[in-house]
Amino acid sequence: MAVHSFAVTTRVHSGAGAVAEIGPALAEQNHSCVLIVTDRGIVDAGLLAPVTRSLEDSGVAVTVFDKVLPDPEESIVEAVVEAYKAAGCDSLLAVGGGSSLDVAKAAGVVVSNGGAVADYEGFDAFANDLPPLYAVPTTVGTGSEVTFAAVITLPSQQFKMSILSTRLAPRAAFLDPALLTTLPPHVVAHTGMDALTHAVEGMTSPLSTPFTNAMNLHAIRLISENLRAAVADSGNMAAIGNMQAAACIAGIGFAHSRLGIVHAMAHPVGAYHHLPHGLSNALLLPHCLDFNRIGCEPQLADVAREFDAMRPGQSEREAALAAIEAIRDLESDIGIPSSMGEVGVTGEHFAAIVRDTFRSRNVDINPRKVTEADILQILNLAL
Ligand SMILES: NC(=O)c1ccc[n+]([C@@H]2O[C@H](COP(=O)([O-])OP(=O)(O)OC[C@H]3O[C@@H](n4cnc5c(N)ncnc54)[C@H](O)[C@@H]3O)[C@@H](O)[C@H]2O)c1
Ligand SMILES: [Fe+2]
Repeated sequence: MAVHSFAVTTRVHSGAGAVAEIGPALAEQNHSCVLIVTDRGIVDAGLLAPVTRSLEDSGVAVTVFDKVLPDPEESIVEAVVEAYKAAGCDSLLAVGGGSSLDVAKAAGVVVSNGGAVADYEGFDAFANDLPPLYAVPTTVGTGSEVTFAAVITLPSQQFKMSILSTRLAPRAAFLDPALLTTLPPHVVAHTGMDALTHAVEGMTSPLSTPFTNAMNLHAIRLISENLRAAVADSGNMAAIGNMQAAACIAGIGFAHSRLGIVHAMAHPVGAYHHLPHGLSNALLLPHCLDFNRIGCEPQLADVAREFDAMRPGQSEREAALAAIEAIRDLESDIGIPSSMGEVGVTGEHFAAIVRDTFRSRNVDINPRKVTEADILQILNLAL
């Protein structure tokens, strides 16, 4: 049996009003100039004002970079590095979804190590630690505020690469549900399905442990009980707050258990078809589970329990099938289309998507051994 380690290296501040703690927390660390990394959607939603107010009230100078775009490309990371150096900052604060958080992480790597983003693909491919990094997540998906990953698109290769290291975890994260009430329903649906995919793939990973299961199972419970209500109304503070917690808890889980073929496939599907990351996952998840089921029925039975989908006297196989059905029901209720074709995916890039799927190290830890022909078959079923 392998030895696993488990550590939550990010201090998580959660609850309504958590943004007010950002300024005092950074001032306490003697940071005097912070670069905020965010996108225009966050600024236009009015979410930055309480963050900058807290920092300025604590005497921390603020410079804002607000040009992050979804599926961020390496050029955006380079622009953040320039802005950080030009302003003479001593710390980074990402405010937004996974795109802003990942850009800040990757920029931190380049600030401390020089070179280009693409130099740092894979596990622990950099020597020097990042500048102090903090995160304010505003979606309910990636868990990037606690994970050991940053996902950046290399447009020359139409490839989403991952930088991976425990040293990418932010020092602290501030989870304030009051920042989530401006989320449009489709962003709650997509990012919520990203979080569910993390937790389910984390459960079925052979690297799962009782520690990761504790995180991933509770995330599944919170999502099964709150995602519908949060999509219906992101102003429902209880539901959206529970989803925010679920995304972060799943992040802690999957940062240790890692993922599987859903993410390995979703990255190239997203890269070639410019679909939101969570939507790519949602479109693939039931089909990948149909394929994986025979390699992880006990774990899927655990998933069924969190969905309250188990019936007395059911076999493990029946419970595993019930879990997949419960996920399909949830997706249907929150408006996820039933096929990739409905959102414009065609088969034209499938050969490249199959090839790029195998660039992900998550394929190696999928609960069922998988060939290129299997991936192509799953893509065709999802189409
Ligand atoms: N680092 C990791 O561990 C990890 C894990 C999974 C995914 N990812 C990556 O994260 C990225 C996706 O991040 P995401 O799904 O969080 O979306 P995102 O950051 O791309 O944001 C999506 C949209 O939502 C808007 N938005 C965000 N919060 C809002 C709010 N509170 N109110 C109104 N609008 C808001 C943004 O302006 C943006 O237009 C992808 O690149 C994906 O590959 C990273
Ligand atoms: Fe994800």
